[in-house]
Amino acid sequence: MNIRQEAYQIIIKVLKNNDYADILLQQAIKKIHDSNENVELMYRLVKGIVKMQGNLDYICRQFTEPDKYIKTDLKIKALLYLGFFQLIHLDSIPEHAAVNETVEIAKKLYGDKTGDFINAVLRAYLRNPKFQYPQDLAERMAAQYSYPLELIKQWLPLWGEEETEYLCLYFNEPAKLHIRVNNLATSKSKLLEYFKKRDVEFTESPASHNIIITTHGPKVLQDVAFSEGYFTVQDTSAALVVELLDPRENESILDLFAAPGGKATYIAERMKNTGEVIAVDKIPNKVKLIKQTMERLQIDNMKLVTDDAFHYGPVAPAFDRVLLDVPCSGWGVFGRKPDLRWQYHQNIDELLRIQANALNLGANFVKAGGYLVYSTCTMNPQENEEQIERFLKSNKQFKLVNASDFIPVGYTRSGMMQTFPNIHNMDGAFAAKMQKKPKER
Ligand SMILES: C[S@@+](CC[C@H](N)C(=O)[O-])C[C@H]1O[C@@H](n2cnc3c(N)ncnc32)[C@H](O)[C@@H]1O
Repeated sequence: MNIRQEAYQIIIKVLKNNDYADILLQQAIKKIHDSNENVELMYRLVKGIVKMQGNLDYICRQFTEPDKYIKTDLKIKALLYLGFFQLIHLDSIPEHAAVNETVEIAKKLYGDKTGDFINAVLRAYLRNPKFQYPQDLAERMAAQYSYPLELIKQWLPLWGEEETEYLCLYFNEPAKLHIRVNNLATSKSKLLEYFKKRDVEFTESPASHNIIITTHGPKVLQDVAFSEGYFTVQDTSAALVVELLDPRENESILDLFAAPGGKATYIAERMKNTGEVIAVDKIPNKVKLIKQTMERLQIDNMKLVTDDAFHYGPVAPAFDRVLLDVPCSGWGVFGRKPDLRWQYHQNIDELLRIQANALNLGANFVKAGGYLVYSTCTMNPQENEEQIERFLKSNKQFKLVNASDFIPVGYTRSGMMQTFPNIHNMDGAFAAKMQKKPKER
């Protein structure tokens, strides 16, 4: 199996059809049964090239005729990406291997003429690998770090030059895998011991007791301990949201935007299979993913509902706690989801409207004295603290609960949970916990 060719085929599918890189990688790994190094190289190539597409395009334009390059088919451009990515962003690959193997794939798939073109462009770069990025700050960052220009223009006033630069660089590194120990099936010490015997190193998260972190993601995901349900994949920031919610045994909990179920299954697990967790999501295929995870983790206190949250009912204050993990711009997960940064043109006004409506909806389901947690995986203040401030202003029966009473203070700001990727070494996320006024006696 030619690992670069396999990676190239996946890249084409992701860039052309918007297919999910992770799902295609998982399918490819099952098929190829290759060594760990090769599997890791395939992950690096696919995720790295999808992330760095903007940067690679910029570089390709410097070493081709720009007018012709614009009209070049994506299949040919992707071969150039494959070559340039190895030459510029992967230290471990010798130059001759990067060029020769890419040219081989080009010849095999599209004939000698294409192979010669790829060879000429890559060798022109090797002969004189000098080129300049734009002078303008935002344009330079967009080209060099591979982000949509509009996004950089939005980030610079929020975080300043230095912080934005660190953030851009952080997301371009291969993301570490965070996994959550399933305490219904094992314990953290047993799982660490198990992986130690298999030469997989983990570090313990300083933020959440149940999370351990590794750089050997592909190997860990293929391990039988995953299919047997001893752990599941969850970023530390997502686990912190559930720890902030702080579900208790025998309670009834509503999760209105639940799929693929990372948080809902952690809620259920923390309740030790008692009480009831109702998990609602409107996309049937994603609800199936919750079901699979539930079964794998041996969880049986969850009820799954495939419905639009805004139609779910009866609307009544029947729940001890309600989680609103709303759709958002996803800035916080750009490191793990390589394609997300290129879908930047989502309609932010529409997202803001859904989020505000979700807060009003969720509030109606909370019992007197119960709790409402609103969370996102973005660092965008408009979708985070500004939503909460507006909600609290017009819903006087709710008050903010101090997040640092539930999670370590270092991951909070102004009483709310806020994580920043390059500062906290986890995804960027936000959560606010609010309590509904208890019944007057
Ligand atoms: C941020 S994700 C939730 C992640 C999930 N809480 C977890 O931890 O795995 C948002 C989810 O909201 C769902 N969604 C979006 N609009 C919805 C609606 N109107 N009703 C129900 N679900 C919706 C999407 O399908 C998506 O799965």
